[in-house]
Amino acid sequence: MNFLLTEEQEMIRKMVRDFAMNEVAPTAAERDEEERFDRVIFDKMAGLGLTGIPWPEEYGGIGADYMSYVIAVEELSRVCASTGVTLSAHTSLAGWPIYKFGSEAQKQTYLRALAEGTKIGAYGLTEPGSGSDAAAMKTSAVLDGDHYVLNGAKIFITNGGIADIYVVFAVTDPSLRHKGVTAFIVDSDTPGFSLGKKEQKLGIRSSPTTEIIFEDCRVPKENRLGVEGEGFKIAMMTLDGGRNGIAAQAVGIAQGALDAATGYAKARKQFGKAIGTKQGIAFKLADMATKIEASRLLTYQAAWKESEGLSYGKESAMSKLFAGDTAMEVTVEAVQVFGGYGYTKEYPVERYMRDAKITQIYEGTNEIQRLVISKMLLAE
Ligand code: CAA
Repeated sequence: MNFLLTEEQEMIRKMVRDFAMNEVAPTAAERDEEERFDRVIFDKMAGLGLTGIPWPEEYGGIGADYMSYVIAVEELSRVCASTGVTLSAHTSLAGWPIYKFGSEAQKQTYLRALAEGTKIGAYGLTEPGSGSDAAAMKTSAVLDGDHYVLNGAKIFITNGGIADIYVVFAVTDPSLRHKGVTAFIVDSDTPGFSLGKKEQKLGIRSSPTTEIIFEDCRVPKENRLGVEGEGFKIAMMTLDGGRNGIAAQAVGIAQGALDAATGYAKARKQFGKAIGTKQGIAFKLADMATKIEASRLLTYQAAWKESEGLSYGKESAMSKLFAGDTAMEVTVEAVQVFGGYGYTKEYPVERYMRDAKITQIYEGTNEIQRLVISKMLLAE
């Protein structure tokens, strides 16, 4: 077993770390405060090739591996979790299902635009009445000539409003429950597609989350992704990889909080000494660092397995479960290390703590991850 990153992976980490420090970090607090997405940052990511890391060059990507992609999400999230999830949803939730299930024409049109970053991607699964129970969705798609007519609404859509391409799941045969779900690629300028409420959130505030609405939205037949009835499987397989992206986001958030807490523990003096010399603080930092390293190894393992063509669904769910819980724990402890200052907006740790919470919730709550892991374990 070799734990060393390849030259290419190290190069991508360095490039993204420099970009994150120079271009993303300086405005992270301000964008959080103003709930503002910055398209200029996304365009710069596109310029560096970050919007198409794992996709082949023939589809506009840079042809790197999934490990390089999770490293990029981790490094961005280390300074700004919103920027991390923008890239994660764009790549894992929109790009991946098109890469795996799209026709050649769909890949040339949609995957290329996503990989080159000329368009932003999003994923629409959740509805007001179907969150954890994704198969209970109600949005319908009825075939009418050369089009499917979509009606319904999806909520909690990451990249909602900024995305141009939505991978959406709808019911083509309500009598079949999950076997009657079909996937579609929907352009945001399709008549009948509109945006609903924009959420005001606790964390990841510069990543927009909206409702999307379909009112007699006529989607061309050629935009069906995969075959009729295959949609639920596509949705689940997409989340298998997406969850690893969220794990990477959680690792980045936790590392960012630890970096800040360690720096503060060295600089802050109480009782005549740096607080990091006291066991009460030093042991906290040791526990935080250990759990982050374990999270990182789980995350990289799942990404490595996917790159190697091995099964990775269970490992990906494990990585999100462990890294999400770690991010929450570590960020709460980071605030504690800072004491009263940690509770203010003078330091970034309160933002990390608010951002961490969502990693235990989206792309399947951590309770659902336990369900997924135990189901796979028992089926082995
Ligand atoms: N890969 C391939 N197929 C899979 C699969 C996977 N990972 N998981 C399930 N399936 C298949 C099963 O094999 C089964 O197929 P057959 O009928 O052919 O046997 C079918 O799907 C149904 O499986 P289950 O009986 O296990 O399905 P279920 O209805 O009990 O639900 C669940 C399973 C795991 C709870 C699922 O509903 C789930 O993951 N829920 C959470 C949804 C979720 O993560 N939502 C987040 C949305 S994205 C988001 O957060 C917003 C964003 O933009 C970031």
